[in-house]
Amino acid sequence: MHFPRAPPIYVCEEVNKIMKILIIGNMGYVGPAVLRELSARYPSAVLHGYDTAYFAHCLTGTHYLPERHLERQFYGDIRAITSGMLEGYDAVVQLAAVSNDPMGSRFATATGDINHRASVSIAKAAAQAGVRNFVFASSCSIYGVASGPPRCETDAVAPITDYAKSKVHTEEDLTKIETDMVITSLRFATACGMSDRLRLDLVLNDFVASAISQGQITVLSDGSPWRPLIDVTDMARAIDWAVQRPADNGGRVLSVNAGANSCNYQVRDLAMAVAEALPGTTVDINTEAPVDSRSYRVDFSLFERLAPDHQPQKALSHSISGLIEGLERMEFADTEFRSSSLVRLHVLQGHIDEGRVTEELRWQRPQKTLERSQS
Ligand SMILES: NC(=O)c1ccc[n+]([C@@H]2O[C@H](COP(=O)([O-])OP(=O)(O)OC[C@H]3O[C@@H](n4cnc5c(N)ncnc54)[C@H](O)[C@@H]3O)[C@@H](O)[C@H]2O)c1
Repeated sequence: MHFPRAPPIYVCEEVNKIMKILIIGNMGYVGPAVLRELSARYPSAVLHGYDTAYFAHCLTGTHYLPERHLERQFYGDIRAITSGMLEGYDAVVQLAAVSNDPMGSRFATATGDINHRASVSIAKAAAQAGVRNFVFASSCSIYGVASGPPRCETDAVAPITDYAKSKVHTEEDLTKIETDMVITSLRFATACGMSDRLRLDLVLNDFVASAISQGQITVLSDGSPWRPLIDVTDMARAIDWAVQRPADNGGRVLSVNAGANSCNYQVRDLAMAVAEALPGTTVDINTEAPVDSRSYRVDFSLFERLAPDHQPQKALSHSISGLIEGLERMEFADTEFRSSSLVRLHVLQGHIDEGRVTEELRWQRPQKTLERSQS
């Protein structure tokens, strides 16, 4: 694959230097928030996107295509990225992934190939191409079963799922690359909030969708498990910090929990907060359920110290009200939403069932080097 010559590089006034950023996996749930944040922060910077577009059609209540924030959108599989494609970029943000536990277990081989091996290969290619900052979207799920005090970066990881293992293996291999490139693995809390490509396969988003469509939230556990949450807009703020991070702020290679200490919630509290925002919602908690071992609290103090100006800002109540507004804008009322295009596993399975994508998550027809340039 050969990309055409890049457009002129603009000067970023805020940092008084040339800035050119590639966001890989930009057409998912988190990507649109990242494009909005980076284009607002650096209006003169050149932003490019690269994605294979599994979910490009899953737009949710937006008034414009989120990729309008980019100078260019490239379409391709990350397993085909080479060093030549990354020349000229100051920063590369790697979001592309088979991005949750159910998909990781359904597509275990592709999860290892895409999340781990391709991510490491891209980082090596970026280092070779002279990229200054590489940002990898990792996950707090690497702590696995973690009862006891909140987990911090020096604690042992205990990944249970293929998805979480792929993140651990990537982080490990990123430390072995011999380069001057600054590498940041952001171990994100569970995402929540409205997006131009909304997902309802996330705990808070699911609760809001259930409350709106059914007037009821069913908590399958006894509600006691802990989950740290972060709004997608705050994920984007953390990424903004990481694309500019100097090596002397945290070390050349850094893995850091991304979220806020105040945003560790018990699942029943999330359900009650949604019910409070949508009066009339009933909350059904299974008090008889065996204790759910997937419970963990996370310590975000390191992130607070290193990134004081990029701390999460969105309160839980604002994430909930944003979801309510967004779903109302979509005229959402689907009681069967768990088998709709708002759930990623369902979308990928649909591509496979209809012969568009293989079990290895490759498009059946070789993807043309599609590119859309803004003018
Ligand atoms: N959503 C969360 O709760 C959460 C939490 C922690 C970390 N993360 C991480 O953040 C990143 C972004 O998450 P998201 O919620 O936007 O995921 P998403 O599934 O909504 O989007 C991922 C994007 O990557 C693209 N992609 C996947 N495989 C690809 C391939 N082989 N080639 C090219 N593009 C490919 C998809 O088309 C999609 O647009 C992921 O790495 C995810 O693991 C997400």
